[in-house]
Amino acid sequence: MPGLIEPLKVKGYTLRNRIVLPPMQTGRASFEGTVTNRLINFYVRRSSHLGLPIVEHSYVSPTGKIGPKQLAIHDDSSINGFEKLANALHEVGAPAVVQISHAGGVTNKRVIGTEPAGPSPREKTRMLEASEIYGIAEEFALATERAVKAGFDGVELHGAHGYLLNQFFSPLFNRREDEFGGSLENRMRFPLLVVEKVHKRLDGRLLLYRLGSDDLAPSGTHIEDSVVFANRLEASGVDILDVSGGMCGSEPKQLRQIKGYFVPQAQAIKSAVSVPVIGVGGITEAEYADKLVSEGKVDLVAVGRAFWSDSQWAEKATETLKKSKPT
Ligand SMILES: Cc1cc2nc3c(=O)[nH]c(=O)nc-3n(C[C@H](O)[C@H](O)[C@H](O)COP(=O)(O)O)c2cc1C
Repeated sequence: MPGLIEPLKVKGYTLRNRIVLPPMQTGRASFEGTVTNRLINFYVRRSSHLGLPIVEHSYVSPTGKIGPKQLAIHDDSSINGFEKLANALHEVGAPAVVQISHAGGVTNKRVIGTEPAGPSPREKTRMLEASEIYGIAEEFALATERAVKAGFDGVELHGAHGYLLNQFFSPLFNRREDEFGGSLENRMRFPLLVVEKVHKRLDGRLLLYRLGSDDLAPSGTHIEDSVVFANRLEASGVDILDVSGGMCGSEPKQLRQIKGYFVPQAQAIKSAVSVPVIGVGGITEAEYADKLVSEGKVDLVAVGRAFWSDSQWAEKATETLKKSKPT
């Protein structure tokens, strides 16, 4: 089995190693959501020894924004900035992939200026009409076109942490009685529609899906449903599955002490699909990350907060592992 610092071929792309910088909102976009030099520097500083940087979540529609200084990819004025970012990543030998997102029912009126909408009504959230659902799928497709125009090598769909795609998949949020809710088949319908539309616009570039594989709640999504969903995502053209979970961004409280807290879910999904799978959650040490790959539990390892606080994490991990495994 290869280890963390071995390259990985995915479609026409060769990642120089299996270290991933997972998407993390840096707060370095401008108030208008454009790319700034500070934001470019954040990614460039971390990417010269990195296999796969995934740029933080960027909203595909003004109604899908979650907060201030979030990157925006909802109109063509964003393309110039993303082009600079893609060029800067390519200059340090890294691919450029951006996560695109819609917050659906978990944003608030203060941020978007109108009542948030999600699959089902909740306090302060109205229910999306079917026609609006098709409209949002098209907004994901248009955002993808912009990323492609800017020279990006791929996009990641944010289908985790309680964002809109996750809201449709999760029985905690989705209590619809039409074709977009109820059965597992119906709850997968909207995310799969988005995948289908986005896949077409990518024209061979990379499609990643961040999968909320486990809601960590008794009546929420469990791994059995996620394995079925992962298979359908693969069949629909997803090239890499980025397996996360929980309904909040970084560290579900109940998992705080566990090293590799979403790795068991990633491992279960890996055993059911043939596309590469990313494992994440509380991973800080190179040797541990290497073990996850060399034992075949996951194909790639995402290191979030540890990489945020040490911009040379990938470089140091490469050195450490080269020393411990001389060729
Ligand atoms: C400050 C911060 C911002 C984050 N922003 C995003 C995001 O934009 N999209 C996303 O899918 N996850 C986001 N996450 C979650 C991370 O990608 C990652 O899954 C999580 O931090 C667990 O990995 P770690 O334990 O290595 O940090 C964020 C996490 C942090 C700490």
